[in-house]
Amino acid sequence: MRKVFINIKQLLQIRPKGEFKVAGALMNELPKIDNAFLAIKDDKISAFGKMEAYSPKKGDECIDATGRLLLPSWCDSHSHTVFAGHRSQEFVDRINGLSYEEIAQRGGGILNSAKTLEKTSETSLFKQSMARIKELEKMGTGALEIKSGYGLTVDAELKMLRVIKKIAQQTAIKIKATFLGAHAVPEAYKSKKSAYVDLIINKMLPKIKTENLADYVDVFCEKGYFDLKDTDRILTAAKRYGLLPKIHVNQFNAFGGIALGVKHKALSVDHLEELSEADIEALKYSQTMPVALPGCSFFLGIPYTPSRKLMDADLPLALATDFNPGSAPSGNMNFIVSLACIKMKMTPEEALNAATLNGAYAMGISDDYGSITVGKKANLILTKPMENYAEIPYAFGNNPVYKTILNGRILN
Ligand code: NIG
Ligand code: FE
Repeated sequence: MRKVFINIKQLLQIRPKGEFKVAGALMNELPKIDNAFLAIKDDKISAFGKMEAYSPKKGDECIDATGRLLLPSWCDSHSHTVFAGHRSQEFVDRINGLSYEEIAQRGGGILNSAKTLEKTSETSLFKQSMARIKELEKMGTGALEIKSGYGLTVDAELKMLRVIKKIAQQTAIKIKATFLGAHAVPEAYKSKKSAYVDLIINKMLPKIKTENLADYVDVFCEKGYFDLKDTDRILTAAKRYGLLPKIHVNQFNAFGGIALGVKHKALSVDHLEELSEADIEALKYSQTMPVALPGCSFFLGIPYTPSRKLMDADLPLALATDFNPGSAPSGNMNFIVSLACIKMKMTPEEALNAATLNGAYAMGISDDYGSITVGKKANLILTKPMENYAEIPYAFGNNPVYKTILNGRILN
């Protein structure tokens, strides 16, 4: 039996099989069909086209989508959705004048979250995180990368990754797991950072491999965290375990992290609030996806990733939430799309490409997610009534999602 959406006002982001990302000027095109139908068989898109071309089959279950848009669900390729508690006191401290970096230097920031997480049981961590996942489902997220990195000990990193694995089994959102042991240098290793890098390489990576807990590896490559040498060591070791990099680079300082990521064939390089000409050059002709995290820029009041510079250089760009308790406490991709348009001057077409197909590419799943393509997973958003897709970013702060469809099942 098929589920068939009929009378869809606009069916958005239609791509041929084999188109895995979109770059440069082409990001300003969002292929669509007005007055369309889309059929789902089991968990996959099985057919779509102009309404006139719909030939009903016996047993079709029709859903009338008059006045509504249908598009691929959001592909959020960078998040820290598994965390314990919150850091609202640091938020208040920043309002009162401290910077994110000053808070981190005082032992707050990532180390603060690590302290809380250490005291939190696996069961409670799962419960807290799963509640966030339920909210994301309602906001149209259909694929999500989640990082570890608030553990910073062998046991706590494994605890986080096991929670991510359990989430993957209990949500229909497609989950990818990234090991981010190198998120901050823990207190106990303050004056011996290279010993902590050794711990990551010699203890954490082998255990993660044995339990098959991660798809990718990440490093916070930044002044005061992990430098180029540390990053190079970790990425080299991770490669032996089959983990491709997706790294945090150029959040506050540009010092060659992007070129290093490209050298290691990183699937993505993320943040990029600071971007030099050399960084752009390094990205040209690479297969690495640049990822912007405008929620972090908004929340911390730091520059936005210069998206125009990247697209003018014929590069692609993805958008993600960075959902985490310190620099971006929201996993709402609708708001991210709005921010991209309002603050980064991306067109709605560019932002929608960046938040769907390119996001899927940045987590290595664009063969199955991120566009309206026959054979891809039916992970979709059916919007509230609207005239045009520009209304999605335009009405910032609203949830444009009427129904989320995951694996062919209609939720909420
Ligand atoms: O992507 N920059 C590094 N990691 C996170 C923030 C982590 C935190 O403050 O808890 C980020 O912004
Ligand atoms: Fe992050």
